[in-house]
Amino acid sequence: MHKILTIVGARPQFIKAAAISHAIKEKYTDSITEDILHTGQHYDDNMSGQFFSELNIPLPKYNLGVGSGSHGAQTAAMLKGIEDILLSEHYDGVLVYGDTNSTLAGALAAAKLHIPVFHVEAGLRSFNRAMPEEINRVLTDHTATLLFAPTQTAVQNLRKEGFTDRQIVFSGDVMLDNIIYYGRRVTTPHPTPGGTAWSILATVHRDFNTDNPARLKNILSALNSIAEHYGTKILFPVHPRTRKRIQEFNLQLPSSNFQVAEPLSYIESLTAIKSAKIVLTDSGGLQKEAFFCGRPCVVLRPETEWVEIVEAGAAILTDADCGRIVAAVEKLWDTTPPSPTQFGDGHAAEKILENIISTLTPGSDGFHFISSSI
Ligand code: UD1
Repeated sequence: MHKILTIVGARPQFIKAAAISHAIKEKYTDSITEDILHTGQHYDDNMSGQFFSELNIPLPKYNLGVGSGSHGAQTAAMLKGIEDILLSEHYDGVLVYGDTNSTLAGALAAAKLHIPVFHVEAGLRSFNRAMPEEINRVLTDHTATLLFAPTQTAVQNLRKEGFTDRQIVFSGDVMLDNIIYYGRRVTTPHPTPGGTAWSILATVHRDFNTDNPARLKNILSALNSIAEHYGTKILFPVHPRTRKRIQEFNLQLPSSNFQVAEPLSYIESLTAIKSAKIVLTDSGGLQKEAFFCGRPCVVLRPETEWVEIVEAGAAILTDADCGRIVAAVEKLWDTTPPSPTQFGDGHAAEKILENIISTLTPGSDGFHFISSSI
């Protein structure tokens, strides 16, 4: 029996971890046990607790309660807390997800103790080192024993950085697994926050958009004009930091154009995507979910890690440029994205678990699902 520690801390990680926990429960209880460590990076119920109950994820055995802080302070507190746990209880491997400060802290603490690190969503690159997530991704990949790449672009990025095919596994994307599994619980049209008088979903949470008044103002002005032009409201679930900045910068969200809401649960979010005609976001996860649900997406960033979606004509990069945002909505308004074929077959969690089990089994010669050749 292999004992792994799953380290999570931020909203998108609870969602990704749900796919693995679910697959363990369904298929691998004889060979793997999982404990969950929550760093406490996200702590509001609508940013954290609601995902555990809604997605039926096992409750964390450990919660470090680290909370918010500067990048250094937050990551350092996590590193210390995770190391203490890894020293007090034996784990055969550590599983980390994505690119947050919790990901990096978990990977670094484990690697320094010579515990194998398994990185889900490896190989993503924006090539923008000003993003804290880019630093987290690169460093986490370089501590990892196995790198689970969701796309072939991610596989290629890793090869270019010198990783070998014994380290890289093209697993596909656990978020696609989730859409297939939990998507059955989504019925549309569905009562979503504020009723039905909206057909556009928008979210903004990246620090480079929220903490710069000119950029945040541009994005909100674009949303305002779009709502006016199409005669519809915009459902706008607000991240806690975005809410603070809107107040601080004294920006207006007229109720005639915006349906402001608290951060949505996973099922509410899928429901909102499926009920929307178009999605505007700076979130990586939401870009993918829109694509998987067949909705076009305007990406409020200068670049994206999910280049496949742009190449498929299902998303347009606009940065925080008001004119480009308005033009992109016009271009995509009647677009139906093609079926997603670049993100695996919906069985990423199984591939990840098979490979972890195989790697941790003494005498095994390695992996069942080496990255496919391209
Ligand atoms: C983090 C991740 C980002 C991910 C996002 C998902 C890093 C560097 N960034 O960004 O990659 O896309 O999570 O949401 O790890 N806050 C609350 N309550 C909470 C959580 C946060 O009020 O439960 C507020 C605090 O003011 C905090 C701010 O939001 O300072 C930012 O939170 P933080 O965890 O630092 O980063 P996110 O922007 O959420």
